[in-house]
Amino acid sequence: MLRVFEAFSGVGAQRMALRNINADFEVVATSDIDELAILSYYYVHEYPIKKEIAVSIEDMKAYLVNKGIYTEKKVNNIENKKIKLLYEAMIATNNMGDIKKINNKDIPQHDLFTYSFPCQDISSLGKNKGLDVESGTRSSLLWECRKVIEEVKPKYLLLENVKNLTTGKNKKNFILWLDYLKEQGYDNQWGILDAKDYGIPQRRPRVIVVSKYGKCKSDLLKRRDFANKNILDIIDLNENNWVKFKPKAEVKGNVTVGKYAFLDDRDWKMNGVMITDLCSTQRAGRVGLKVIKNENGILYERKLNALECSRLMGFKDQDYEKMKNGNMSDAAIMKLCGNSIVVNVLESIFKNIYEEEMYD
Ligand SMILES: C[S@@+](CC[C@H](N)C(=O)[O-])C[C@H]1O[C@@H](n2cnc3c(N)ncnc32)[C@H](O)[C@@H]1O
Repeated sequence: MLRVFEAFSGVGAQRMALRNINADFEVVATSDIDELAILSYYYVHEYPIKKEIAVSIEDMKAYLVNKGIYTEKKVNNIENKKIKLLYEAMIATNNMGDIKKINNKDIPQHDLFTYSFPCQDISSLGKNKGLDVESGTRSSLLWECRKVIEEVKPKYLLLENVKNLTTGKNKKNFILWLDYLKEQGYDNQWGILDAKDYGIPQRRPRVIVVSKYGKCKSDLLKRRDFANKNILDIIDLNENNWVKFKPKAEVKGNVTVGKYAFLDDRDWKMNGVMITDLCSTQRAGRVGLKVIKNENGILYERKLNALECSRLMGFKDQDYEKMKNGNMSDAAIMKLCGNSIVVNVLESIFKNIYEEEMYD
């Protein structure tokens, strides 16, 4: 059985992928500090909680502060019902909270460590503050992963981030990181993998580094086959928010009568308005991805809804429904999608890891 520590766990795309391939695994720990991420993970993977909780509200608050979820000041402004729910979610999902605050001795033994650390300071859309050691940027949380690697030496490591990590001013830190892993005894395989090559109609190039303690015996980035989904597999036919298409600029591409396509008019000042078969990269905090349809020669447009965004991440509808049943808003689900990893890509990598295990 593969024991897994999902750091920067988000909604747990890693765990969805392991579940989908029927892997023999156990998530022994997660780590996240964002309320929405913690709750979504709970709803998708562990809800309802399996054990009774007999802890006072004051102790729950102290716990959440200690794990870095809230400050002392903020925790007292949160209603008790939410404190209880978050505490319950943290316990159910073995969430260790802020990675900076994790004590080495508390890190459980595991075989696979996944670390899709924050990309805001690396992403082409951010301020590009970078990820230098001790710079205090969110992306520099990468270096916090050293304690997990040094304390436990998990057999496999999986890094995911935006491809900008490998270029420009970030490249030196990327190389430093790969060298560090080598010094620690790891054999690294890395590449830029794009969701569009894994059956999902979304352009989403991401750097993936799979590392194995000792020598790799196979290609851990080998692309597995997936049935290609197209926009008809993504579109939610119950959504009726269509309005007449009013292009903001010159339109590139078209959609034939009776058909749907993705529409990107966010960068219309630069690139015009694009009608395409592949959705652009979803990102947290970046709204405006749309679909367009041609009905009897008249064009209509609307924004993608949260179900469609989930499908574009390779999430199953049941995962989306579990978040909805937990009363998560569409905006929250879309933010989590934008931060997450396309599940198909992870399935492919995990299948490779299980195959690699057969050689040892
Ligand atoms: C790029 S997302 C990873 C999403 C995840 N792979 C998934 O499957 O959805 C980065 C995550 O790191 C979390 N994060 C940010 N700062 C953190 C910290 N100090 N400790 C632990 N997690 C943190 C964010 O809340 C966010 O959910």
